[in-house]
Amino acid sequence: MPACKFVILRDRKKREYMLTLKENGRFSSQHGFIEHADIAAAPAGSVLKSTGGEYFTVFPVTYRDYVMNIKRQAQIIYPKDTAAILMWGDIGRDMRVLESGIGQGALSIAILRALSCKGLLTSYEIRRDFADMSKKIISDFLGYTPENHTVEIRDIYNGIDGEYDRILLDLPEPWQTVKYMESSLVSGGIVVSYIPTVLQVKTMVDTLKESGFFANIETFELILRPWKIDGLSVRPEMWIYNHSAFIISARKLAEPSAKLLVRQHGKNR
Ligand SMILES: C[S@@+](CC[C@H](N)C(=O)[O-])C[C@H]1O[C@@H](n2cnc3c(N)ncnc32)[C@H](O)[C@@H]1O
Repeated sequence: MPACKFVILRDRKKREYMLTLKENGRFSSQHGFIEHADIAAAPAGSVLKSTGGEYFTVFPVTYRDYVMNIKRQAQIIYPKDTAAILMWGDIGRDMRVLESGIGQGALSIAILRALSCKGLLTSYEIRRDFADMSKKIISDFLGYTPENHTVEIRDIYNGIDGEYDRILLDLPEPWQTVKYMESSLVSGGIVVSYIPTVLQVKTMVDTLKESGFFANIETFELILRPWKIDGLSVRPEMWIYNHSAFIISARKLAEPSAKLLVRQHGKNR
């Protein structure tokens, strides 16, 4: 088990409560309380009864529990999209990864886990408060301060220093970074951009194409459709979280190719 100090309690109505266990602490809800000491003493996966008679499952938090339950100050990338970003971005050991911006660090945690202490993550963030907050959120989850992670307070629209194997963008205007990626992303490298609206998607894809340096441009979204399985009631849940954002991925060519641009336009007609 990772050395994460958080646990997640869930009642029979699937309400979740993320806790940091403290000496003499007490978890209170409308169903009475449970002492933190009793939670700490119980094996992972226990079912504990509160003083008000409600039952709670108790587990160490997962990545998904953690990012979905941290107090939101910036929009995070949802775990379903994070999973795709890691796969389309092909994030793995020994890579040099640049991300911008860091927000609350939800994506950073996933990247750092994929790098398994073997690669380097640099995060460009324009706001110092987000940079500071995300560092704490990241180290709280990991249980250590990752030495392979550097956060730089800077505006990525003004440029990118150094060379990266992968660049992951969660920015309002990612197309402003394309001209810098022409030299900062290695040949064969991958950029993945997370963008909420379709007009932003169009501008980003057009800019990637016009650069001539990018190929294999893919745009998609992921819709997660939860189902209710309860006795004879077997159907999709009535609620659905319909849209989070679009994901664009592209690979960097060794040299710009105007021919590729012509072919791509032809195909889209
Ligand atoms: C939606 S949040 C990122 C959330 C993050 N991916 C996560 O998973 O928690 C967008 C972040 O980009 C930062 N940002 C916006 N424009 C920027 C710029 N030009 N350069 C660097 N960071 C920027 C914002 O301050 C904010 O922290």
